[in-house]
Amino acid sequence: MTRRKWQLLLMAGIVSAAATARAQNAIESTPAFASIYQRKVDAVAIGQLPQLFTGSASIAPNYGFPWMVSLEVKGTARQNGHFCGAVVIDPAWVITAAHCVATAIRNGEGHTLAAADPDKLQVLTGTNILSRGGSVRRISRIVLHPEFGIAMQRVPNNDIALLKISDAPNLTPLAVASAGQAETMLVDGESVRIFGWGTALFGPNNPVSNTLLYTFVDVVGRSKCNAKAAYDGGVADSMFCAGLGYSDACQGDSGGPAVGYANGVPYLLGLVSWGVGCANRSFPGVYTNVTKFNGWVHAIISNRY
Ligand code: ARG
Repeated sequence: MTRRKWQLLLMAGIVSAAATARAQNAIESTPAFASIYQRKVDAVAIGQLPQLFTGSASIAPNYGFPWMVSLEVKGTARQNGHFCGAVVIDPAWVITAAHCVATAIRNGEGHTLAAADPDKLQVLTGTNILSRGGSVRRISRIVLHPEFGIAMQRVPNNDIALLKISDAPNLTPLAVASAGQAETMLVDGESVRIFGWGTALFGPNNPVSNTLLYTFVDVVGRSKCNAKAAYDGGVADSMFCAGLGYSDACQGDSGGPAVGYANGVPYLLGLVSWGVGCANRSFPGVYTNVTKFNGWVHAIISNRY
């Protein structure tokens, strides 16, 4: 497929960079959720494999993944506010995709991207169920990667941001993989585990899941992912691809983790960032390779400012 063609597809695929617009999306998409989700829960109860992410996602056990958090619009009723995933990587810091927490500021002809107002957002920690349990915490600071940008074709670049949690931060972190670990884990055919409350289907008005889901996706090597028939060079070194069409992340999963395991210990490798549609055989999901940003992450967190 030509670059031009997938650029057009992406227009539909990537939700606006403005957190408020994305939040709006999530809010509008919520009401239909109950029936779809209940069908999944019923299917699990009678022993059928759930068909989620248009593939084979499973329901995560509650409290099994204490570092998984939901990014929400402040002041909305529980599950209505979810719009992105995020991951605890330090007792007081959460990492997410920059496009989840950036807002476009008009200036003359164009716009610049800036951090959204932290007062408009909150995180939900300590539960897998958006509508129940856990605790809501305030965000005191949003730090976008200084080179975060959104290209003409709406591909986010350096799609990574840190959120400082202000009230009673004592969160349970997930270790970030080292660059060396990533080199062995992020090779073609290796499996990574992804988590999120995102939609099961791609489209404008699909509901998010009330319960955290996970699935496994195979890493797709950069040369395959950048082939003409796929993203045709659109996948930068700071990104990696995963998902061969049978399972994938989808809308509302952005900012959530791709996790690799070493001797049974989980490590954060990536953040859900972008893709064309969801669970599309020709277009894998694309993730921010967090390990390319370890220096930046460490600098921000260790200053503790
Ligand atoms: N941009 C989407 C979000 O905001 C995530 C898209 C990931 N797409 C994919 N096919 N893996 O949640």
